[in-house]
Amino acid sequence: MTIVHAQFFHLIGVIFLFIGFGGLMAIGENRSVINKIVASFHGAGLLILLITGFMAQGVGKYGFPGWIITKLILWLAMVFLFVMVKKDKLNAKTAVIISAVVGIVVVYLCKFKPF
Ligand code: HEM
Repeated sequence: MTIVHAQFFHLIGVIFLFIGFGGLMAIGENRSVINKIVASFHGAGLLILLITGFMAQGVGKYGFPGWIITKLILWLAMVFLFVMVKKDKLNAKTAVIISAVVGIVVVYLCKFKPF
């Protein structure tokens, strides 16, 4: 296992997570079958991201710098965003926009590792 392998699987998680967020826009139309597919992509994406994130952290011997701790918090934020839409506490379009902003911050953190 090299860091490139871990990053490869990590990026599959990113694809799944954002397929899930994109699909959230359909939830307003109450299509329950789509909801299940969307929720599965979102959930699988987050699980893959967590497992492969720790794989990359281990292989890269990064320890726990600020950018990884912050990524863990933002990973949790991605969970809550979805749950809030499912519980009708947040509009789907707002959640999708917030997820894009959080996603950009996360990519900045792991590529530039500012702290
Ligand atoms: C919101 C969820 C997350 C997203 C969208 C995300 C996204 C990314 C992306 C796009 C990369 C760059 C991969 C590459 O350069 O090929 C990356 C790298 C990485 N991520 Fe995540 N990640 C997330 C959660 C996590 C979590 C929870 C951890 C916890 C350990 C983590 C640890 C890492 C590590 C260690 C790297 C490798 C950085 C490097 O070697 O340069 N990520 N992540």
